Amino acid sequence: LVLAACGGGGSNEATSSEEYTAENPLIIKFSHVTAIDSVKGKAADYFAQLVDEKTEGKVKVEVYPSSQLYGDADELDALMSGNVHMIAPSVTKMVKLDPRWQYVDMPFLFENEEHVEAFFDSEVAQSLFNADALAANDIMGKAFWPNGFKNFSSNKNQLVKPEDFAGQKFRAQAGKVLEAQFQALNAGSATISFGETYAALQQGTVDGTENPHNNFDTMKFYEVQKYYTVSEHGRLDYAIFVNKSFWESIPEDLRTLVDEALNEATTYAQELAAEENAKSLEKIKALGTVEVYEMSQEERDVLKEAMQPVYDEFSEVITQELIDGINGLK
Ligand code: LMR
Repeated sequence: LVLAACGGGGSNEATSSEEYTAENPLIIKFSHVTAIDSVKGKAADYFAQLVDEKTEGKVKVEVYPSSQLYGDADELDALMSGNVHMIAPSVTKMVKLDPRWQYVDMPFLFENEEHVEAFFDSEVAQSLFNADALAANDIMGKAFWPNGFKNFSSNKNQLVKPEDFAGQKFRAQAGKVLEAQFQALNAGSATISFGETYAALQQGTVDGTENPHNNFDTMKFYEVQKYYTVSEHGRLDYAIFVNKSFWESIPEDLRTLVDEALNEATTYAQELAAEENAKSLEKIKALGTVEVYEMSQEERDVLKEAMQPVYDEFSEVITQELIDGINGLK
């Protein structure tokens, strides 16, 4: 009673944060699918380190990379059910909850890194986080992290002109937009989880795929692909999602520090992405095992034209508002 009287002005959160110590920390489980040394892997580890420093070990972020805890197919379900607390999916994977996230797959929508960054900072991007579908499934969007522009690769031939794609089968991440992208090039596609893509390329289940340079590099796809085209035809970016009930249960003083760490890790991810992708492209070129072709602007324009049917079919699903909002940020 005396204690209760003394603590009368304090909140429940303040009291419960005292439960956590360096010996008995609050654990945040963060699952992702890429390699430890990938853009996402490095940014996730940096976030964990910042949380440790800021909270003096009272909060520990356990990072599970390389689909070791959950893969593409199940990480979102695991987040919704609270089995994992934090994920950083490639945003197209969110198509399960809201088809507008496939904005990222619309061919040649983003001009450059600055355009992508302006989008991340915009109200249009925020509107994706505000969708009822997230809250209704007990998840909350916290931040956008970039990776980079995607590039085509194949085992059959170099992919430059639209006709070069005909008859080939490509690994796709998820969703109808990517399927339509390959259809527009008279090619087929199969949704295969990231963790199974190396084997699918090796075994010839698919002929090719599309990746930012850094994913192609850190997953060693260069071991199982012969041709690589710097096409930069679409984006692969991430959004950080947390389990809402879990997040709100973190004592407020500690949550503020974790949020601070996430903001700093986001800045780090933004600085890291372009740099790591440039380094990976140099490495892929230097390997000599993959034939690298850099498309000219004219060649990209021809490809863009061939992919126009994707806009005809999906502008309504993505919403014209979102597409115009993104175009307006150029
Ligand atoms: C993919 O499936 O290609 C991506 O999800 C990989 C990534 O960077 O997360």
